[in-house]
Amino acid sequence: MVTEELKELKERADAVVLAHYYTDGAVQEMADYVGDSFYLAKVAAKEKRSTIVFCGVRFMGESAKILNPECRVLLPDAEADCPMAHMADVGQIERLRAQVEDLAVVCYINSSARLKAHSDVCVTSSNAVKIVSALPNRNILFIPDQNLGSFVAKKCPQKAFYYSGGYCPVHAQLLAEDVAGERRAHPAAKVLVHPECTAEVVSLADFAGSTAEIIAYAEKSGAREFILGTEPGVLWELSRRCPGKTFYPVTPFCSDMKRISPEQVLACLTGGGHEVVLDAALTDAARRPLQRMLELGK
Ligand code: 13P
Ligand code: SF4
Repeated sequence: MVTEELKELKERADAVVLAHYYTDGAVQEMADYVGDSFYLAKVAAKEKRSTIVFCGVRFMGESAKILNPECRVLLPDAEADCPMAHMADVGQIERLRAQVEDLAVVCYINSSARLKAHSDVCVTSSNAVKIVSALPNRNILFIPDQNLGSFVAKKCPQKAFYYSGGYCPVHAQLLAEDVAGERRAHPAAKVLVHPECTAEVVSLADFAGSTAEIIAYAEKSGAREFILGTEPGVLWELSRRCPGKTFYPVTPFCSDMKRISPEQVLACLTGGGHEVVLDAALTDAARRPLQRMLELGK
């Protein structure tokens, strides 16, 4: 679609389009803001237009709605959901709260609104170490991603960690032997991975960080080749920002992120889409940990 036409549709709908780096390149191209989870949550919290079209999985749209309840938040695809967002149990959280003193429940933003509502603070992969380090609590229950949790635990050895045992089914598929094989094939390449990968994979990497941090690292690095241990959607931004550099993706696609199509984005701008509707009490309870993240993550 011609840029002018798209601009007009957005203006008529009083809408802004946000897209995560894992969505299809054609979807990212339609967005006003493209970024990682933390960046997009900050943009959504401040948005003044009446509608946000959130090109990402359900927890991203929910977080936008919770942080900006006056705004109408539309999801292009109602079925695009992150499986990890449900990999913790409220009963387990509350049992541990009763058993362990001085415990903070730290909830990765990749979680349902219900899990957030039972947590003390949210984090994303780009601010988790900073936020957990700033917490006064000695004990941390990190939900739902055990891999990101153990990445943070290594950087915060003064604290004791408990986990719910969740994982990202996309990043967890990457095996240490795959990384070792790619290294042999491309000996000059730097290995960049997301901390949702297993601890064994992270231990083999030259750099581990959020999608935005991986992109920034590749852009600044003097290296010319990179083995890419995160969802290959980031290649769209990498090709724009790192011309002449070569990337070898080794992680599979996230089928949920890839559900979102340019046609669905257009539908959101022309009366369609799937509005995020949350219970008012749940919204209030889940806002507290998200706002605490915005404050501590500054
Ligand atoms: P970031 O956007 O924080 O890098 O997280 C990646 C992710 O898995 C989003 O679903
Ligand atoms: Fe969830 Fe993993 Fe897909 Fe991110 S990449 S949305 S964590 S399944």
